[in-house]
Amino acid sequence: MHATTNGIDRNRLAELFLTETRVFVDKHPRSAELASASGSLVAGVPMPWMRRWPGPFPLTVDEAHGGRFVDVDGHEYVDLCLGDTGAMTGHAHPAVLAAVAAQLARGATTMLPSRDAPVVGDELARRFGLPKWQFALSATDANRFVLRFARELTGRRKVLVHDWCYHGTVDETLVVALADGRTASRPGAIGPQVNPELTTAVVPFNDIAAVERAVAKGDIACMLIEPALTNIGIVLPDPGYHERLRDVLDRHDVLLIVDETHTICAGPGGCTREWGLRPDMFVIGKTIGSGVPVAAYGMTAAVAERIEAMQRDEGIDVSGVGGTLAGNAVSLAAVRATLEHALQPGDFSHSNRLAEAWARGVHDAFSAHGLPWSVQRLGCRAEYWFCAPPRTGAAAAAAVDHDLDAFMHLWALNRGILLTPFHNMALFTPFHGNADVDAHTAVFASALEALLPG
Ligand SMILES: Cc1ncc(COP(=O)(O)O)c(C=O)c1O
Repeated sequence: MHATTNGIDRNRLAELFLTETRVFVDKHPRSAELASASGSLVAGVPMPWMRRWPGPFPLTVDEAHGGRFVDVDGHEYVDLCLGDTGAMTGHAHPAVLAAVAAQLARGATTMLPSRDAPVVGDELARRFGLPKWQFALSATDANRFVLRFARELTGRRKVLVHDWCYHGTVDETLVVALADGRTASRPGAIGPQVNPELTTAVVPFNDIAAVERAVAKGDIACMLIEPALTNIGIVLPDPGYHERLRDVLDRHDVLLIVDETHTICAGPGGCTREWGLRPDMFVIGKTIGSGVPVAAYGMTAAVAERIEAMQRDEGIDVSGVGGTLAGNAVSLAAVRATLEHALQPGDFSHSNRLAEAWARGVHDAFSAHGLPWSVQRLGCRAEYWFCAPPRTGAAAAAAVDHDLDAFMHLWALNRGILLTPFHNMALFTPFHGNADVDAHTAVFASALEALLPG
């Protein structure tokens, strides 16, 4: 009798994974060659996450357009990862290309405002309903800055986050809750931060009573949230969670910071607009520059007034917020073009419909095998689980099946489809079409046929 987990025989899974690994190696001689010629790079890659793909070496990408990319061996892929949301507007968006090229030709950075700055600020205000904006180069940086402001404004030292959240490589947020509720460094975090209990309190997603207990201590400056968790898989809020959360935070004068870096997939104004959230501060990165490094953080008039007063004070040092290249002219040109030509209501109706069809295809295939798996969707982002949909980050983390994930990813990759690493997620651009969804449905169904023959 063989061991079976999540409905899958593990010996069969291991055999199939080996076969797929051989297929991958045979198909990608040029990527293999480039990987072995990358000795000057740490672990052979320019950034550690690039090792986190299922094959023995990463593909080297030749070019990417719309919803597809081509590797150096000449294979074309349907890209459902889209640079983990960085390219959600589609690779090489023509309007962004033109705007960036034009601005580069006129100078990239001067540490002074460009003409695009106020236009971009106005459009962000219109979309997300917060009147005042500033810029950073990554969502990680923007999160670090808003946490600093929240501490400065409230005079409190701690941040409250959801268990298994991810807001970039921000020390205060790379945490999980221990069984007794205490804060610990996230498992596997490199060079764990100095005792995160001093900076951070952690509550389970969807647990209002835990939020009440955490803020009652009076030392929480702000709560930083994703409206739905997306980085440990999609975990959706229970009905009424956000209303109750806002109410508790209001009663304890705790600032609410909403990070929509991934949840912009819900619509042109993110979950904030879709669900009527009322953040005090707001962060968005990745997508708004269509792949050009930039992030923005917004705030209410009340918060901005206090920050502006602070910034007029010569005694306050600007160190810790900003960065030499933040708000540079090229980034702002990219944001302006993105907001004017992408992320429009029509783009979302197209890509949401594709995500819905993708979810239906996956659901029908696993149901046909009687597997008790599930699929979740948030706008143009969808994902399958090998269990019922989790309600908390801890339940989501416990449900991860690394071996099955790796097999599903490699099977798809060998058949021309790239899924997002770390989980089984697909993201759609307006450049994708029905044929891309159908291709994935067929590949997913064939993986299940191979795993569960007869
Ligand atoms: C919700 C959220 N916030 C912030 C970040 C950090 O973005 P970046 O790595 O571009 O700084 C991420 C990255 O995945 C994210 O998902």
